[in-house]
Amino acid sequence: MLNCVASLQEALFSLHPAGFTRKDSTLKTQLVCLIMVVPESQGELYHPPPDLQRDAHVPDFSSYVGMYKKSLENPEAFWKEVADEFFWKKPATGPMLQYNFDVTKGNIFVKCMEGAKTNMCYNVLDRHVREGNLGEKVAYYWEGNSPEHHTTITYGQMLSSVCRCANVLKRMGVRKGDRVSIYLPMIPELVYTMLACARIGAVHSVVFAGFSSDSLCERIMDAQSSVLVTADGVYRGDKLINLKQISDEALEKSREKGSSSISKCLVIKHQALRMKTGASCNKLQTPWDSERDEWWDEAMSDSSEDCEPEWLDAEDPLFILYTSGSTGKPKGVVHTVAGYLLYTFLTFKCVFDYHHDDVYWCTADIGWITGHSYITYGPLANGATSVLFEGIPVHPHVGRFWEIIEKYKVTKFYTAPTAIRLLMKYGQEPLQKYDLSSLRILGTVGEPINPEAWLWYYKTVGQSRCPVVDTFWQTETGGHVLTPLPAATPLKPGSATFPFFGVEPTILNEHGEEVEGEAEGYLVFRKPWPGIMRTVYENHERFENTYFKKFPGFYVTGDGARRDKDGYFWITGRIDDMLNVSGHLLSTAEVEAALTLHSAVSEAAVVSRPHQVKGECLYCFVTLKDSWEFDKKTVAELKTLVREKIGPIATPDFIQNAPALPKTRSGKIMRRILRQIARNEKDLGDLSTLADPKVVEVLFSQRSKAAA
Ligand code: WT7
Repeated sequence: MLNCVASLQEALFSLHPAGFTRKDSTLKTQLVCLIMVVPESQGELYHPPPDLQRDAHVPDFSSYVGMYKKSLENPEAFWKEVADEFFWKKPATGPMLQYNFDVTKGNIFVKCMEGAKTNMCYNVLDRHVREGNLGEKVAYYWEGNSPEHHTTITYGQMLSSVCRCANVLKRMGVRKGDRVSIYLPMIPELVYTMLACARIGAVHSVVFAGFSSDSLCERIMDAQSSVLVTADGVYRGDKLINLKQISDEALEKSREKGSSSISKCLVIKHQALRMKTGASCNKLQTPWDSERDEWWDEAMSDSSEDCEPEWLDAEDPLFILYTSGSTGKPKGVVHTVAGYLLYTFLTFKCVFDYHHDDVYWCTADIGWITGHSYITYGPLANGATSVLFEGIPVHPHVGRFWEIIEKYKVTKFYTAPTAIRLLMKYGQEPLQKYDLSSLRILGTVGEPINPEAWLWYYKTVGQSRCPVVDTFWQTETGGHVLTPLPAATPLKPGSATFPFFGVEPTILNEHGEEVEGEAEGYLVFRKPWPGIMRTVYENHERFENTYFKKFPGFYVTGDGARRDKDGYFWITGRIDDMLNVSGHLLSTAEVEAALTLHSAVSEAAVVSRPHQVKGECLYCFVTLKDSWEFDKKTVAELKTLVREKIGPIATPDFIQNAPALPKTRSGKIMRRILRQIARNEKDLGDLSTLADPKVVEVLFSQRSKAAA
């Protein structure tokens, strides 16, 4: 504690009031909050371990405050220093950042390093191999769905495969600016293809390999891709997925809709899967169109290893990644070369306190932004060694994660609250079989983490010596925007803590007015950082309408946030998950956190339901742990618990048993569906993004038993 107080005082001292000229500066409020009150909250803080602080990039809180201050006061110098790490074919002629965030003043735009020319692939591969002598360093330990399947890939091998793939794509007619859709499982070829696109200036659009043919079709059509890269199939756990067949269905559907942009399809023969003998392999069907389809191996075998990178403008697009929109049609989020490189590089380096001997593992799928930024680009930009995992947490046994951590001596581990809650259900035993002493830092992302899961992660997985970095960000933000830094930030379970460098968050009320100090409302950002999205693909108007219309001058995240008395940010969930009970704003996440404190509950999801007197009331879905019964006693205890934790205003009106919750394939709970079940609305619309649509029927059948 002493340590922290001293560094805070030092930080306070370094803040000269003259440094703040803007009236009402939230930066000032932010920093003063950071500094003044932390010592008051001793009880609930988890401090960085001193051994981590010794050689950390951001070794204490005052360093964080100093760097944060510099990043906002002098972004030019701050980002220039980061850019100096990389190779630029031509230097920038414009400033590090230019932007307009105010719709009333013209078009929204963000530009980073205008005039500069570079290449992402060169910077994440050639630079390490040629200049950094990392040719022999392991880039990825690939671990298959089945533990028998694994390989090691060095930076040198990667460069060679990527160049050959780039030449294959060129031969297929792909040119700078063309789009390539990628529908692949978590195999090394997925990374090769992304980087091959980046090398030749093509724009990749990765579609998660758990998506249906309809979703794939929609994404191919929107991007108007000319090439599709896929695989014959993959096992996810015990389940075989016929990727090529799904791809063909998607292409057929796009033809029916009169828009077949794909002229070539490159197909990877999933070696590990082919090695699987017996009946399961015979189930694999690989439909073939010899005009259009080519096997990856054959195409690669006579492809040259020489491929000069295409030198791109800093603001040329790097990729499109689709994210769901409130209207139902997915948005093609566009990220560009230079800004995304700088931002994923720096966030990876600081948030995971990256060092050269680390073995880093992010369990996300590359089909999501987490995989793009923190499996592919961020780690490679740093020359890191990562685990690339194809499987799922519970196959072939519930200790798989822990087994892999032991096997590769993973030092930094990054996963999602939903995975943590799943594994928590099995208790400590599966962990005790493995040596997890290599772990240094744990990370989480994707949704608010309830304190119970945070503490389990911290104590049981991290053995109380690894900071948990709860990273808040979005597909749109490109990288972490609110996050602790592991050696600098005293942690509070469930809080994403403070902004990353260059990020200026603030909280607005309904009327768009900034609220200071302890407050809750809309989380927005006042200015861009290099990694923020630039547009919605071919629909700039939708970009402006979605993120900038509601509160001119700000990027609107769509999330609610609370700032506590110490200046810590707590994400309260999507704004559409906010409820207003008798004029009080409540967040569903808060109630869920309270419910999951009960020892019977493994997961909870709360939605609002109209109420005659209160306006809205709480309808709670709870999944109980295996041996528990959903009975009156449990329901009564749950109600009391929520009353106790939040207050009588939050007392649930309905508690329903939910053997399982409707989730997307990425594990996000689909609250829209829960809201409709709570309201007994039978017409649920499109359920195709659900991992298991059958869950819905079960919930309807249980509905009448919901305890009021
Ligand atoms: C939404 C973005 C960013 C990669 C994965 C999801 C929620 C994300 C956190 C967190 C609370 C979080 C937000 C956000 N979210 N991380 N640490 N704490 N909420 O990317 O699909 O674009 O979803 O996920 O609601 O807006 P995405």
